[in-house]
Amino acid sequence: MDFYEVIKTRRTVRNYKADPIPEDVLRRVLDAARIAQSGSNRQPWHYIIIRDKERMKGIVPLCANQAFIAEAPIVVVACGMNLKTNRGGYMGDFGMLVDVTISFSQLTLAARVENLGTCWIGSFNNEGLKHYLGIPDDMQVVALTPLGYPARADAFFENATKKPLEEIVSYEKYK
Ligand SMILES: Cc1cc2nc3c(=O)[nH]c(=O)nc-3n(C[C@H](O)[C@H](O)[C@H](O)COP(=O)(O)O)c2cc1C
Repeated sequence: MDFYEVIKTRRTVRNYKADPIPEDVLRRVLDAARIAQSGSNRQPWHYIIIRDKERMKGIVPLCANQAFIAEAPIVVVACGMNLKTNRGGYMGDFGMLVDVTISFSQLTLAARVENLGTCWIGSFNNEGLKHYLGIPDDMQVVALTPLGYPARADAFFENATKKPLEEIVSYEKYK
């Protein structure tokens, strides 16, 4: 699939089939996250793959009761390691969030190529998930997503609700 087709038709999916994801497909999707760019190539990410249905259901109350998360055959939890050093500047320790976000974004795009749906979940209880999943103290949950084949045949489409280029780009100066 052409790259531009991928990014145009990646959509948030909130209904999933229970169909399993073949191992080779899952591996390709995770590999897309693995090879992402990061500041100083520090790769401060770790991915937890959840397949156990009971464990998955326990995640739902820690994610604002978004029940569809447990419909998918897999939930992927993206964790980030706190950075002990930074190069100064206003970004400071938040650099980890940038790195993990880039990696996780690649995962969502690779999922699209494989006709798998994702839904970036940003509404979650970090401390609750850390405790529930045994995530070390010096790491944080950055995002999670259900991963599975969409229940609806029309799940992937070009969304007309995006702002036009003229609204989001200026040349030479902001104004
Ligand atoms: C940082 C972030 C957090 C989000 N959190 C949630 C969430 O908790 N629940 C949800 O259903 N969708 C969530 N979304 C999905 C957005 O609602 C969705 O990306 C947006 O409406 C645009 O739709 P699209 O992904 O199909 O382009 C989140 C997306 C991002 C990038």
